[in-house]
Amino acid sequence: MFVSYVLIKMRKTIIAGNWKMYKTITEAIELANGVKRELFQMDSQNIEVVLCPPFTALAEVYEVIADSDIQLGAQDVYWQEEGAFTGEISCKMLKDAGCKFIIIGHSERRQFFGEINAFVNKKLKAALNSEITPIVCVGETLSEREGNRTFEVLGNQIKEGLDGITEEDVLKIVIAYEPVWAIGTGRTAKPIQAQETQKYIRNLLKELYNNDVAEAIRIQYGGSVKLENILELIQQPDVDGALVGGASLSIESFAGLVKIACGVKK
Ligand code: PGA
Repeated sequence: MFVSYVLIKMRKTIIAGNWKMYKTITEAIELANGVKRELFQMDSQNIEVVLCPPFTALAEVYEVIADSDIQLGAQDVYWQEEGAFTGEISCKMLKDAGCKFIIIGHSERRQFFGEINAFVNKKLKAALNSEITPIVCVGETLSEREGNRTFEVLGNQIKEGLDGITEEDVLKIVIAYEPVWAIGTGRTAKPIQAQETQKYIRNLLKELYNNDVAEAIRIQYGGSVKLENILELIQQPDVDGALVGGASLSIESFAGLVKIACGVKK
């Protein structure tokens, strides 16, 4: 009884900004400074905030946020620790740059860079070994949703992505449900659709692990989250935060999203 209470209380809302391939170093410093300024009174008991700039700006953004409760995240990683892997970057390097989170398996990586579930699994294990929190993205395309294959696709992404991950380790991850058709399109999943799908994910985690684990894992929603829709989305019982792309690129909108999320009591 005590254990499940503690686990449920661990589901602190998490809002992460995925800056994608935007922002020069100067622009990134400006954005991070502005977000920090806007959120200086943030109640970090209630909410966790993560900024995920491009690799080139990680170290500088870390400098800006190091004296705040805002955390740093990367957008991708390679699973080897070091070696002759031109163009890649390891968990060890990301940790050194100040990262506490890594986005893994984003649909843009899957779509444009051939990322498959087996790679997601290796990256996930590498992040866990380095004590960096993975934000594992899953989501269906429009044709998969229209073909009634959403649950099948998500089921495979989760089962293959989490293959071999222990109960102890799975508690350290965050899942981001991001329907591909909602990313960068302005077309958001209806709150009820997000809830239904995220409930499915939680039930699957229950099957794969157990109820306490499923209740403890945070599941974010991502896909055209903005000031106008965040409240209804994160009021859903199984939506524990948001992974935000476009609306994380301006100080006002990102800080505004965090403030709204901070006010939601579940
Ligand atoms: P979007 O991106 O908010 O611009 O739709 C979300 C994401 O890709 O993480």
